[in-house]
Amino acid sequence: MTQSPTPLLFALYEQASVGCGGAPSMWTHPLDERLQVNSLDRWRDTALTAEQANLDALFFADVLGLYDVYGGSADAALQWAVEAPATDPFMYVPALAALTERLAFVVRAYTTYEHPFSLARRFGTLDHLSGGRIGWNIVTSYLSSAARNFGMDEMLKHGDRYARADEFMEVFYKLLEGSWDQSAVVADKESRTYARPGSVRPISHVGEHYRVDGPALTSPSPQRTPTLFQAGWSPRGRQFAAEHAEVILLPKKEPHEIAEGLADIRSRARTLGRPDGAVRSMALARIVTAPTASEAQEKFEDLQRTYRVEAQLVSYAGDTGIDLSQYRDDEPLTTETNGLTSYVVKGGPGSEPLTAGDVRRKFSSVTRGTDLVFVGTPASVAEQIAEHSSVSGLDGYMINPLIRPGSLNDFAELVVPELAKRGLYDTDPQSGTLRSRLRADGADLLDPSHPGGRLRRP
Ligand SMILES: Cc1cc2nc3c(=O)[nH]c(=O)nc-3n(C[C@H](O)[C@H](O)[C@H](O)COP(=O)(O)O)c2cc1C
Repeated sequence: MTQSPTPLLFALYEQASVGCGGAPSMWTHPLDERLQVNSLDRWRDTALTAEQANLDALFFADVLGLYDVYGGSADAALQWAVEAPATDPFMYVPALAALTERLAFVVRAYTTYEHPFSLARRFGTLDHLSGGRIGWNIVTSYLSSAARNFGMDEMLKHGDRYARADEFMEVFYKLLEGSWDQSAVVADKESRTYARPGSVRPISHVGEHYRVDGPALTSPSPQRTPTLFQAGWSPRGRQFAAEHAEVILLPKKEPHEIAEGLADIRSRARTLGRPDGAVRSMALARIVTAPTASEAQEKFEDLQRTYRVEAQLVSYAGDTGIDLSQYRDDEPLTTETNGLTSYVVKGGPGSEPLTAGDVRRKFSSVTRGTDLVFVGTPASVAEQIAEHSSVSGLDGYMINPLIRPGSLNDFAELVVPELAKRGLYDTDPQSGTLRSRLRADGADLLDPSHPGGRLRRP
C-alpha cells in the first residue's frame, strides 16, 4: 500500500516595505500595489486572501536600518526603495488577527536591540489577543546602520550576536515559561483570588548582558512562548537553530544542499535531546504561473523586463556589506562579511573566486541566480514542488511574491487546487494555536525537551 503524502506547510513571506528583500525593483511593475504599504485596507485584503487560501501563516520580514552600503550612502536604497521604508510589522498584527480566525502571524524581533523583558511582554500580549496565532522569527540583525541607530559604533561580530541571543532566549524563557505556574491563574471571584499565592515568582536573572528581576507581567497565554522560527545557516546559526527553533527558514535552493544542511541541524538537535520532528523547515520560493505554459513564460518575461539589477546590487550590498560599486568587472570579489554570510555569492568548491562581473551577470535575471523559483502551469508548479520537497526533505515553503498581490492570487487560485489534488495542501486546516498546527501531537506549548519547555512548571 502506498502512503498518502503529508500536506506541506505554506506561508506568505511579506515585509511592511515598498521594496521587499528579494524583489527589490518589482514595486515598479504597473500591476504591483506595494506603494500602498501604509494602507491597512491593503493588508486586510492580503490577510483575508491568505486565510481564504488556508495558508498557515503571514510572515513579516523586517530591518532596523537603511541599506547604506552601496556607494557609501543610503541614496540608492531610498531611490529604489530597497527594504525602505520599513514600518513596524508588530503594529499590523492585532488589526489583522482581529479580521482572521485561523491565519497565524510570524514577526521578526531582534535579540541584539530589543530587551527580553519588554519583548516577552509584547509577545505574551499578542499571543493572548490572537488566541495563540503568533510566531517569532528570532533574528540578530546584520546591518551596521541598525547598530548605529541603537547607540553602537559598530555592529557586534557574528559570534557575539549569537552569544547575546543565547542569553536573551534564556531570560525570555524564564519569564514566559518559568515565572508563572501553568495553574497559577484561578480567577475566582468568590474567593477573591486571581493568582494563587506562591505560584508566580521572580526570575532574578543576572547575566553578562541582562539583569531582570521578573516575573513576567503577562499571565500564561495559549502558547506561552510564541512558536519559534529562526534562519541560521552558518555553523553557529545552525547550532542556535538546533537548540531553539521549531521552524527553520532556509535561504537556499538546491535540494541536495538543503537536505545536507537539514540533516546537520537535525543531528545537532538530536544531540541536544530534542526528538525527531522537533525542528521543521521551510524555504523561500517564488512562483510564476498561468493556465498555459506559454502564458507562464510570457509572465516571467514581463517580470524580467521590470527587474533591475541596479536595485539588486543595492540589496546585496546591504545584506552582505559587499559593495559592487567599488569593483571593476574583472576584479575578484571579496566573500568576507560580518553581514548575512549565507547570502554571499561564491564559486563552487575549489573554483576560482568569482569576479564582480560574474556576480553582476548572475544577478541579471529576476531569479538572481540564487532564488528557488517554480515557473510553469499550475500542474507543473505543483509537480516541481512535490519533487523539490521529496528530495530536500523540506516541510514547507514561504511564498515570496514577485508581484503584490498578483503572485499571491495566482498561488491561491491556480496552484493550491493542484497541490491539494496531490495531497500536498491542507485545505481544511484546524484552527487553534500556530504551534498546534505545526506539531504532530497538536500541543499548544513548547515540548518539554525544548530549553524553554524544560522551565515550565505545572
Ligand atoms: C527566510 C529568511 C528570512 C529572514 N528574515 C530576516 C529579517 O526579517 N530580519 C533580519 O534581520 N534577518 C532576517 N534573516 C536573516 C537571518 O536572521 C540570519 O541572519 C541569516 O539567515 C544568516 O544567519 P547565519 O549567519 O547564521 O547563516 C532572514 C533569513 C531568511 C533565510
